[in-house]
Amino acid sequence: MKDLLRTHDLCRADVELLLDTAADFAVNPLRSNTALANKTVAIYMTKPSTRTRLSSETAVAHLGGTPIFIRGDELQLGRGESIADTARIISGYCSALIIRTFAQSDVNELGMHASIPVINALTDDDHPTQLLADWLTIREQFGNDITGRKFVYLGDGNNMSHAWLLMGAIMGAHVVTATPEGKWAPDSRVVEIAQKIAAQSGGKIETTHDPEAAAKDASVLYTDVWMSMGDSENERDEKVVALSPFAVTENLMALTQKDSVFMHCLPAHRGEEVEASVIDGTKSVIWREAYHRRTTIQSLLYHLVRGDLKGSSQ
Ligand code: CP
Ligand code: NVA
Repeated sequence: MKDLLRTHDLCRADVELLLDTAADFAVNPLRSNTALANKTVAIYMTKPSTRTRLSSETAVAHLGGTPIFIRGDELQLGRGESIADTARIISGYCSALIIRTFAQSDVNELGMHASIPVINALTDDDHPTQLLADWLTIREQFGNDITGRKFVYLGDGNNMSHAWLLMGAIMGAHVVTATPEGKWAPDSRVVEIAQKIAAQSGGKIETTHDPEAAAKDASVLYTDVWMSMGDSENERDEKVVALSPFAVTENLMALTQKDSVFMHCLPAHRGEEVEASVIDGTKSVIWREAYHRRTTIQSLLYHLVRGDLKGSSQ
């Protein structure tokens, strides 16, 4: 496996390896501090980022390398140079490319033409690196045995919902998304892929439009912003009305298991997708989750550059 373009590029063994190493990095961040010595990693972002940018830059530094951050308007790509030529050029200087942008097809094309690992740091369709951090947080919380546990995503059927479905399927989990019907439900092609993966992993994928039924006896309630980067502001009012029933409230949390947790990829909008008393309450694990963005990206870079990952056949 050369690139991480989509969450389901990973197989379960890859995820387990990445999480084991990330857990080591959480305890000892400088364990492999010469792995990227004299090497550079390009981080190219055409959308804003706090966590992914900072965790990527610090991860590279902890591995002994040098991050080169490039904003969306700073490459000749914006002036018509092709993705293929850009990929070849970056491959000549850098050991990996981390990219955050809009179209998944652009990231796929970069991966195809780059000879170095390309890592999807969020597209309109997926957010694989976030799910590594999320799953390490879940493993810390519940251990390796997740039998009988239900992992629920509520809100917009966006990139995060896709990543949640796909990673849950890979890990053999019972995953539920609770979203509005229609245009704010997860992409049916992604649901189908997740169901196929789950059929082999022993997982279970469900999509519903009933937040209470989804939350009942859940181990995790997860949510994300209602307006993603790139979403049309013209739809905001309609979207807020449609998504309001899926806000994570104290009432919804009360339906969950005793040892349940609340998760959020952040940034959060208190009072919209989640009540402040939930995200700032005792069941919230958001700060551990955010911390693991660095440990997991560090692990991903470490193993991808060494060529340790097998990849999936999906
Ligand atoms: N969760 C996440 O990807 O955060 P940023 O947008 O700040 O990188
Ligand atoms: N769905 C959000 C995730 C941010 C980490 C977005 O794409 O803006």
